Parts: sequence; C-alpha cells; structure tokens
Amino acid sequence: MLFKVLLFVFFLIFCSLNAQDVVRDVRLDNKEIKCLVCDASIKELTDLVTNTDKSQTVKIGGHRLDPQGNYDSPKSVSVVKSEIFLSELMEAVCNKMDDYVRGLWKSNKTLTILKMITSDGQMNPHMSEVEFIQDDDLNKSLKYYCEIIVEEFEENIIKYYQNEEKDIETKFCIEESHICPPKSQTLPKIEL
Ligand SMILES: *[C@@H]1O[C@H](CO)[C@@H](O)[C@H](O)[C@H]1NC(C)=O
Ligand SMILES: *[C@@H]1O[C@H](CO)[C@@H](O)[C@H](O)[C@H]1NC(C)=O
Repeated sequence: MLFKVLLFVFFLIFCSLNAQDVVRDVRLDNKEIKCLVCDASIKELTDLVTNTDKSQTVKIGGHRLDPQGNYDSPKSVSVVKSEIFLSELMEAVCNKMDDYVRGLWKSNKTLTILKMITSDGQMNPHMSEVEFIQDDDLNKSLKYYCEIIVEEFEENIIKYYQNEEKDIETKFCIEESHICPPKSQTLPKIEL
C-alpha cells in the first residue's frame, strides 16, 4: 500500500515537472524572436569583425599528423579567421543582446527588437516609433535565443567569416539554418 502511495506521489511530481517544462518552452520558442535575434546577432558580429585590426595574426595548426607521419607546419593567419577568436566574439555578441528590447512598430504592428543605445552611444532614433512590450524576462531571453543559436551553429557561422562572405545574415539565418522565413514570405502581424 505504502509503495503504491509513493508511486502515485512520484507520478504527480513527475507530471508537474513536465508541465512546467512545456510552459517554459512555449514561451521561449518564438520563431519570430529567434529570427530577429539571428539577424541582429549576425549584424553585430559582422560589425565586430569589421572593426578588428586584421593585421593581428595567430598561429594555427602544428599538431595534426599528415599521412607520412609528420606534423603539419603551423600557419600564421589573421586573427579574424581564428576559431577561438570568432567564438569569443560570438559570446560578446550574445551579451550585447542585453541591450536590446522587444517591441512593435507603431506603424504596422510588426514585431521588432531594438537596441536602446546605438553603437555610437546615442539613444536609438527609432525609439518613439516603437511600442515596447513589457516582460520581466525580456532581456535575458533575447540573450538566451542568441546562445541557443550559437550553441547549435557556431561552426557554421565561423566558416562564413573564415571565407570572408558577405550578407551572412541572409545566407545563414534564412538559407542555411532556416531560422528566418524566406524574404518573400511576410511575417504575420501581431494584433494586441
Ligand atoms: C532590460 O534592459 C534595459 C536597457 O538596458 C534596462 O533598462 C532594463 O532594466 C532591463 N530589464 C531587465 C528586466 O533586466
Ligand atoms: C514596419 O515598419 C517599420 C518602420 O516603421 C519598417 O522598418 C518595417 O519594415 C515594417 N515592416 C513591415 C513588415 O512592413
């Protein structure tokens, strides 16, 4: 009898834990926000890469054996092509998502994320065009979206920068990862 009661209690605990997870996931799994964060993060990353002094170099390789059993010789590459450097920049970009807020454009009620203070230290001039959405967990969750994107796609993102590609937000967010819908497809409007 006692065993049955315990089993039932465990079952209840198990159910309530699962229910919490579902609620949490529904709130965080917002495709539109993920797309906006993808676009903003890649633009921020491109900005950081563009503003890095490319004459700085790092040595890579020198620890891999070739088929003849010799170590490959280490090469000097520009720091902006280093995996470690790019990975650190991505971390910095996700931290920057704390400076963004969620809102709706007043003109057409589409969802947006807006950086309150622009990179030159000015108040964002579009602030008055946006109706901000109140959410206690707001800033954290934008960073969260950035982190889950980086976690899943870090190596893919690094390749674009190593190959010096242009318009990476389109190539990565839309074409490769499908985090964002194709450009022709308009996002649904949000009615408040
Ligand atoms: C979110 O970020 C804005 C601007 O950085 C800040 O004013 C606000 O207090 C933050 N909100 C939370 C809940 O951290
Ligand atoms: C909504 O309006 C903003 C500016 O007011 C504009 O940048 C954005 O592209 C518009 N979005 C759509 C889907 O029309």
